[in-house]
Amino acid sequence: MKFFLDTANIGQIKEINDLGLLDGVTTNPTLIAREKKKFRETVEEICSVVKGPVSAEVIALDTDGMLKEARFVASWAKNIAVKIPMTPAGAKATKILSSEGIKVNMTLIFSLPQALIAAKAGAKFISPFIGRLDDTGQDGMELVADCVEMIHEFGFDSEIIAASIRGPLHVVQSIQAGAHIATVPYSTIMGLFKHPLTDRGIESFMKDWNNAGLGSIL
Ligand code: G3P
Repeated sequence: MKFFLDTANIGQIKEINDLGLLDGVTTNPTLIAREKKKFRETVEEICSVVKGPVSAEVIALDTDGMLKEARFVASWAKNIAVKIPMTPAGAKATKILSSEGIKVNMTLIFSLPQALIAAKAGAKFISPFIGRLDDTGQDGMELVADCVEMIHEFGFDSEIIAASIRGPLHVVQSIQAGAHIATVPYSTIMGLFKHPLTDRGIESFMKDWNNAGLGSIL
């Protein structure tokens, strides 16, 4: 499973990239707004660091507007995937953009039929929002598993991005569900390193080494 970082913060992106964990980045209008910089400046800066796909979302809600914005945004860097919301206008735009070779990430997916529409429109990435479904009392991870099964069953070329991830357990469940990608906030990805037994193990190894007076390795 690939890791995308779900942020527009360049500091976080550089840090996770340096850890060798970064396969791509996803942003949305909220994450872009949080950085208080111009959209293009933010996206180009991210693309200068990240080799994998960088999702940048359109704000137009009609097909023509989406197409204009998507083609413009896609011209900023080779690795941009344009994020388009799941609406009839979005599906129409996705079909056209995909036929032009522009990668589309269809976002705000909350049901299996929506994921099927995205796949049929040719979306390269399909983003079911786990956390936001969980918030309504539905099992978001079940949707991810169903989407993955559908992609395999019907032989679509799309990749399922487990999105709106809220913690390490969602990452575990994304792996188990066979998600192609999980897009994860910075705090969650750093949380994946942590285990009390790792800390305890390091502590006891150091104690034993020092008690034996073994000194420096170098
Ligand atoms: O990748 C989708 C994400 O940006 C939304 O996450 O936590 O706002 O539901 P959240």
